[in-house]
Amino acid sequence: MKGHSDSEAPEDSSEPPVPRLSVAVFLSGAGSNLQAILDASAAGRLPAEVRLVVSSNPEAGGLQRARQAGIAARVLRSKDFSAVAEFRQALVGALRDSGAELIVLAGYMKRLPLDVIRSYPGRIINIHPALLPDFGGKGFYGSRVHEAVLAAGRRETGATVHVVNERYDEGPILLQERVAVLPGDTAESLARRVLEVEHRILPEVIRAFAEGRVRVEGDRAWIEPPGA
Ligand code: GRF
Repeated sequence: MKGHSDSEAPEDSSEPPVPRLSVAVFLSGAGSNLQAILDASAAGRLPAEVRLVVSSNPEAGGLQRARQAGIAARVLRSKDFSAVAEFRQALVGALRDSGAELIVLAGYMKRLPLDVIRSYPGRIINIHPALLPDFGGKGFYGSRVHEAVLAAGRRETGATVHVVNERYDEGPILLQERVAVLPGDTAESLARRVLEVEHRILPEVIRAFAEGRVRVEGDRAWIEPPGA
């Protein structure tokens, strides 16, 4: 993906500067994935800058994390607008003002309006706490995902980062990593181990976007290896 411009590398650097990608993060809960992005960026492992956080929930812990990091944080809920079109305009307006080039859904419990999805084709990603296409779609969110994995007797689960398209949880997969289901696992213990993986693979995918290594063609998407 092209178009990002700010470079923070010194002029005499021997490495070509990697432009920083402007990112908007949508969330509804604790925001540990937001934190993973912020930490990777602060540590110099991720050439991305979170410019905007949007929450569907005023109580979301992620809002606090955003504010602590000095990032613009907005609560935008459709129920606070008199018409759905106004809600959509508020979302698109906030995104445009932020200059976001990539939208990251990190525990966002709402469906994005279609015209937002259409405004950012191939530039919205979501993290899901299972190996899609299994345990995805309507009703599979939060601890329900892990409970369903355990109820089905699966020996492994994992985390998936995929491109968001108009079909919920069905967009092309960019990266998955497996997590073993251990004897005695509960939904909570499984969620903890899956989250550790999420915190690694989500920044990895954002980095691939920042480095222009993500390809999206229709229903297929992939990440080119560095230097390819
Ligand atoms: C994660 O498990 C994510 O996969 C799911 O919601 C959870 C959000 O966790 N979509 P957090 O708010 O990032 O801590």
